[in-house]
Amino acid sequence: MLISDLVDVVGFDHCLTDPGLRTGYEVDWTGRYRGHTVAVLRPGSIEELAAVMKLCHDAGEPVVVQGGNTGMVGGGVPLHGELVVSVARLGNLRVISNLSLQAGAGATLAAVQQAAASVGARFGVDTAARESATIGGMIATNAGGMNVVRYGPMGDQLIDAGVVLADGRYVPSLLISDDDLLGHLAGSEGTLAVVAHATLAIGPTPPDLAIAMVEVPASEIEAVVGRVGSLESVFAVELFGAREVELAAMGIGRSAPARADWLVLAECRSDGDPLPELQAAVGDLPAVVATGQREGGELWLFREALTESVARLGVPHKYDVRIPHGALNDLRATVETAAPDADIFLWGHAFSDRQRTPLANVHVNAVGVVDDEAVFDAIETLNGSVAAEHGIGTAKRHRAAAARSDLAELRMLKDRLDPKGLLNPNVLFPPQ
Ligand code: MLT
Ligand code: ZN
Repeated sequence: MLISDLVDVVGFDHCLTDPGLRTGYEVDWTGRYRGHTVAVLRPGSIEELAAVMKLCHDAGEPVVVQGGNTGMVGGGVPLHGELVVSVARLGNLRVISNLSLQAGAGATLAAVQQAAASVGARFGVDTAARESATIGGMIATNAGGMNVVRYGPMGDQLIDAGVVLADGRYVPSLLISDDDLLGHLAGSEGTLAVVAHATLAIGPTPPDLAIAMVEVPASEIEAVVGRVGSLESVFAVELFGAREVELAAMGIGRSAPARADWLVLAECRSDGDPLPELQAAVGDLPAVVATGQREGGELWLFREALTESVARLGVPHKYDVRIPHGALNDLRATVETAAPDADIFLWGHAFSDRQRTPLANVHVNAVGVVDDEAVFDAIETLNGSVAAEHGIGTAKRHRAAAARSDLAELRMLKDRLDPKGLLNPNVLFPPQ
């Protein structure tokens, strides 16, 4: 009965009940989290989204919201038979000015970046998954990405959002919402409301560019990252090691351009050549330098290929952790001790906010047999948090209290906005 009502709303072609059509929505990108659903709903308008949510609400049917399905913590798959609501068709884009644009929840990051570029502007969040990751999901996880040191995470770009609540009510703007849903939306992992569209800040891109892949010995990593991170022109400070650059090199069929305990991939941009200040920050450490977009892109390939390269080795356990700069040199050995039967690869972002707090978002990937709890415990011994920019999802919900200081506030909001607990019921909050 519910399904036929849902078909009436979205049309037969967008209510996927055939197992062959559903399957891509039932498993996450990494292949680690697999669930099951009886139907995937693909609303093509906000009215349809609202009607779908109302029908599910009235029937007491839990729903998992899915965007590009690029999540890494099992937050977007129907692990307990929930219906899947895919926002992929809500991809409209409207450039408002060279300072803002409106994006449907299903717009890909790449489409948003192109829309910004069409008015000579730039969107502040970038990740290697740009062709698939969608704006709704990126808001849900408060994605940080490679330019977080410059622009902050997704929440920092969010000017306004239109959402559909669990009961199907459409709220076109959150600017005047009583419960500061706008302030809590980024990082709420789809538990408070379904993002329908968002108004996002964009801005000018400084024309001059310098990119360097710097070879940094362990003894200097903290100081180098601190100096590069304090540059006014800094756009990215990325970190990985010798084994990771080799892994990426193998993935893209090239040879590694640099080798050291740490490789720092730094990008600076300004109105006037930023290379001298970048060079001053890295001193006489060996570096491969590029000042053009094309050669710079060649260096970025070694960073961007990592996620796919590690996935070729097997289904990795992914730990997305936040650790103080002072713990960077202990991270690899600490995880290797906690996961002796796995191969460890780690890379990430040297900063996690635009205030340049000395905390890194590092993606630890373990390929092999691992006890996740042992790794989480080990991370906590480094004064780290087990969740950085990929969200809590299902993978870490039992540890959410340690990783999120705003959990009680979110719980109160959730109880008010979704009292039946139907929206993304398996994520973020510890199991009750
Ligand atoms: C990255 O920065 O590479 C992404 O967050 C994805 C990943 O961890 O694999
Ligand atoms: Zn990342």
